[in-house]
Amino acid sequence: MSKQHKKYLLAIDQGTTSSRAIIYDQELNPRASDQREFRQIFPRDGWVEHDANEIWDTSLSTIKGAIKEAGIAATDIAAIGITNQRETITVWDRATGEPLHHAIVWQDRRTARYCAELKEQGLEEKVTAKTGLLLDPYFSGTKVKWLLDNVDGAHDRAQKGELVIGTIDSWLIYKLTGGASHVTDATNASRTLLYNIHEGQWDQDLLDLFDIPASLLPEVKDCAADFGTTDEALFGAALPITGVAGDQHAATIGQACFEKGMIKSTYGTGCFAMMNVGEKPLASSNRLLSTLCYQLDGKPTYALEGSIYMAGATVQWLRDGLKIIESSSEVNDLAATADETQSVYLVPGFVGLGAPYWDPDARGAIFGLTRNSGPNELAKAALDSVGYQTRDLISAMNADFGDDVEVLRVDGGMTASDMTMQFLADMCQIPVDRPTNLETTAKGAAYLAGLHIGLCPPPKDMMAQWDLDQQFKPNQSADWADKKYAGWQDAVARTLSTRS
Ligand code: G3P
Repeated sequence: MSKQHKKYLLAIDQGTTSSRAIIYDQELNPRASDQREFRQIFPRDGWVEHDANEIWDTSLSTIKGAIKEAGIAATDIAAIGITNQRETITVWDRATGEPLHHAIVWQDRRTARYCAELKEQGLEEKVTAKTGLLLDPYFSGTKVKWLLDNVDGAHDRAQKGELVIGTIDSWLIYKLTGGASHVTDATNASRTLLYNIHEGQWDQDLLDLFDIPASLLPEVKDCAADFGTTDEALFGAALPITGVAGDQHAATIGQACFEKGMIKSTYGTGCFAMMNVGEKPLASSNRLLSTLCYQLDGKPTYALEGSIYMAGATVQWLRDGLKIIESSSEVNDLAATADETQSVYLVPGFVGLGAPYWDPDARGAIFGLTRNSGPNELAKAALDSVGYQTRDLISAMNADFGDDVEVLRVDGGMTASDMTMQFLADMCQIPVDRPTNLETTAKGAAYLAGLHIGLCPPPKDMMAQWDLDQQFKPNQSADWADKKYAGWQDAVARTLSTRS
């Protein structure tokens, strides 16, 4: 079949808890998908690892599964787009492709003490000025240092050029191309703590600071670019990989937030709000991250980001930890009948708190329990914590951007809950727009792949195709929201590890 007849795009969405593959038609309608979970490895308190080979195996089998489900041949796929959990890092042997250690996941806190030491040395300002990020264990750089310092012989082998590192996009491309490409895109690079977002290149000063040889690093490309072609042995065809973006960046693209001031918030494992701030990076004065939104035709567009570690994961804790629900979908019914007169607050600092607090040592806490509090009130407090945390982020964004956010586009599994979306609108006092397609992350990756090969329209036309499912308008007064939010702020202040 000639290239003009190839009508489908394949998106690989490699997330924190599962790998997925989705086949899209050229109008970006999903046609078939497959999904597989993989192991979460917790070797110690605060440590989170993935087996990179399991990530590869599950990704490969879901690609094959989705192709089969769609009833198409691999040769019908015009291009592949990849989106991925960000910051998670793996190191592998350049010659054999064998990982030296489990991948260290973005949620992993093992470098918290090292980050604190660097902060004490007054280095955070310098790191932030170059990367837009903060000295928090969330980002990849200190995890790479840990791997080189702690895996037997890794440092020496890295010096000899025998090893390479990569975020998960980079790892998947390496495996898909049979080891031919060691590349990444600018959005994934911007989350490593090693990439200078102003200069658009790896930063030698930072590599020196973390003692990381430059030879380990992948080549950085635009989000829509030639990343390599798949090894023919995998699917019986050499398929081009032409789109890559970290998952939150891909979701921003999938939500068509292509204009300055547009903002989306994705509710998955965690919650990540990203605002397009245009062609110049905006340094945050309110503990948000300044990062790449996307990079097309060599031109970076920047974003402000607020990252919250626990959103859907708090509901999973109700299910797996507290065992007050059997499946996540039960949380809404339980919360719907909670006693409205109670003020129970759940601060989900299970793995520390992210933006704007950045407290890796904080732990979860519940406040306001009475003798009448039960599972209903806990379920409601868990869902409400998503709204309160989003307000934390929106307030910080308004202050940094200088203009108030007018409307929030939402996506991700939790946004299917009308009750949670209504609370979000009430708490943030802005309309919340839910699109018809909630899977915006994979859609963004497919779009990038299609854009590069001319199958998808340019961004301005993509904006016109964005479809609203429902708008949630604030029903409660600003006074109501402020009072409830004051209770949340008090609960957070009592949870922070640094309180005196
Ligand atoms: O920064 C971490 C983020 O990219 C993970 O996203 O959807 O896998 O929880 P998700």
